Amino acid sequence: MNKRKILVTSALPYANGSIHLGHLVEYIQTDIWVRFQKMLAHEVHYVCADDTHGTPVMLRADKEGITPEQLISRMWHEHKADFDGFHVDFDNYYTTDSPENQEFCEDIYRQLEAANLIAQRSVEQFYDPVKKMFLPDRYIKGECPNCHTSDQYGDSCEACGATYSPIDLINPYSAVSGAKPERRASKHYFFRLSDPRCKAFLKEWVFESLPSQSDVSLEMKPRLQPEAANKMNEWLSGGLADWDISRDAPYFGFPIPGTAGKKFFYVWLDAPVGYFGSFRNYFKKKGQSQAEIDEFLRPGGETEMVHFIGKDILYFHALFWPAMLKFSGYRTPTQIYAHGFLTVNGQKMSKSRGTFITAESYLKQGLNPEWLRYYYAAKLNDAMEDIDLNFNDFIARVNSDLIGKYINIASRCSGFINKRFDGKLTDAISEPNRKWFNQFLFCQLGEGDTFLGRHVSIANFYDRREYGKAIKEIMLAADIANQYVDRMKPWELAKNRKDDAELHEICSVTLNMFRILTIYLKPVLPKLAADAERFLGVNSLTWKDANSQNRLLADGHQINDYKHLITRVDPEQIEKLVKINQESLQPATQPSPITQDVQTMEKNSPILPQEEENARGSKAMITIDDFARIDLRVAKIIEAEEVEGADKLLKLTLDLGSEQRTVFAGIKSAYNPDQLKGRMTIMVANLAPRKMKFGISDGMVLAAGDGNDGPYLLAPDEGALPGMRAK
Ligand code: 2FM
Ligand code: ZN
Repeated sequence: MNKRKILVTSALPYANGSIHLGHLVEYIQTDIWVRFQKMLAHEVHYVCADDTHGTPVMLRADKEGITPEQLISRMWHEHKADFDGFHVDFDNYYTTDSPENQEFCEDIYRQLEAANLIAQRSVEQFYDPVKKMFLPDRYIKGECPNCHTSDQYGDSCEACGATYSPIDLINPYSAVSGAKPERRASKHYFFRLSDPRCKAFLKEWVFESLPSQSDVSLEMKPRLQPEAANKMNEWLSGGLADWDISRDAPYFGFPIPGTAGKKFFYVWLDAPVGYFGSFRNYFKKKGQSQAEIDEFLRPGGETEMVHFIGKDILYFHALFWPAMLKFSGYRTPTQIYAHGFLTVNGQKMSKSRGTFITAESYLKQGLNPEWLRYYYAAKLNDAMEDIDLNFNDFIARVNSDLIGKYINIASRCSGFINKRFDGKLTDAISEPNRKWFNQFLFCQLGEGDTFLGRHVSIANFYDRREYGKAIKEIMLAADIANQYVDRMKPWELAKNRKDDAELHEICSVTLNMFRILTIYLKPVLPKLAADAERFLGVNSLTWKDANSQNRLLADGHQINDYKHLITRVDPEQIEKLVKINQESLQPATQPSPITQDVQTMEKNSPILPQEEENARGSKAMITIDDFARIDLRVAKIIEAEEVEGADKLLKLTLDLGSEQRTVFAGIKSAYNPDQLKGRMTIMVANLAPRKMKFGISDGMVLAAGDGNDGPYLLAPDEGALPGMRAK
């Protein structure tokens, strides 16, 4: 077998925020891939680190009254515990604030300088005279130049959606100190990406296909996914601008050599270099030689370097990073795999909806991390598409697939083997049972007589990151195993001693099927697989154990007592999880010096905490655009109930066509619940949920009244259907 040597990375999480379910899409995706490659006996090194530098970390530490070093050390431990909790098994989890990283950054910088790819230029930026520091655009707030809403960020207005530069803001102020910022010029260092050498190199690098190194897939592998290559095409044809790689002191990061501590590397320069820093630290700890390190980090070798990233940071990884490496004498990435974002119940994760769920809270609530690993695997593919975590689907899928299909197979047969056959299996399999087993092991290709070992097709799916397809194939196999048990009815055979041989055979085949399903699922469910291995009395299973020669456990193989391997998801657990992650909505407040989302960001992340709803700048007149932001929908009242302890409220269940909502409406004085059932009305569908004493109100129905008379519920004309938009 062609043994691959692969250095694999996931993007480095920022050290100033907690790991949440959005982050975990990537770490779980990568971890599954790494575990799978390791099961194929390839040499894989999976490294990561905390991304520790930059303004947000510095300011947060300042606010907490601790040093940035103290903050990043605390966050490192938090992140590490979260990753361990979700079985994300890095070979090394390090920090970008390391001597190895500093050395690489300085070396890369010096090489780029020697190659005449560093330029100096004066840049004008906002300066906070109180904090005595330059501030990134996100830290400047002010009045929107377009709609005049106050307290808007320096890059875009949350009220009207306009985008602009921070210098366009009216009455700008520092989000850190509240002071009026000054415009000041300072010298910055640029990586000269506009140099024709960079473009020429990148063009070739992006569109070069690589012969597949893998023995499971035979095709040529593109370096980037088609969507990513298209993006690159767009960027490359638009011309590349030089990249500002410096920030002025004070800054938490590495000083740029030769600047007397006045200039620092921008966090985005040292972050990807952190992959190298972590790798070197790991290899040194293992006692590997410099030559062995160089084999992975210098060009010319047979090793691969594969980066898993989110689609929002493609620009950094596919433009800056390879160009930086190429012209400083290092190896360039072999493959970059970008994934989409996570939505929860079809929407952006939101603190007010309770769907901005941290990894820690998930684990603390006692939810099984492998449920999420399985669910993500079932949803993931090789594209840059977003994936949705739908809680109802999550519960249904985990319960029906993992418990109903997979675990069920073991629990249905293990008792008979243990009680009737001393826990020993037989490998004497008669023809009809052998047929079932083959049907389980092979999948039919098309209509004809061509069959492919399921372990090959599943391996191909894993290797290509088509995990959803892998899971589908695995569940087809699990269905066959269950059909087999249903058809053979071992519980019937067990009633009659003369059927013992048959009972023994059927239960042995079934447990062999279970063993093979365990191999297929092991990259996704490492803990469950380890428990299943213990029950089966087998050593750590690898992919070759699913090969034809190794498919049946030997005659007399001893299994252990079956203990329950995994529990079902209880919907109440999900409800609790949402509840503890839910932040009640704040009334409109004065701008606070630092808001939570400013802290988290140094670039625009698509997984932003939901912006707080507010009532800023209320005016008598609104524009048509303001009105268009209100999502008015036709809704059918399918349930109306009194609310114990509430004088004015009725609890309404509304059908919106594609979903149902619960709304508490202050209409009890005018309506009996029975009058309302089946009536149509109009609701505000995008009103942020409100936490009330009696539960969460997810929207608002419209009613007219003048304080004395009413309320009168609004209703659409006949013919309108639930979910139709009112405009
Ligand atoms: O986007 C982010 O969360 C960055 N911290 C990722 C850095 S990845 C790599 F370049 F270090
Ligand atoms: Zn505006």
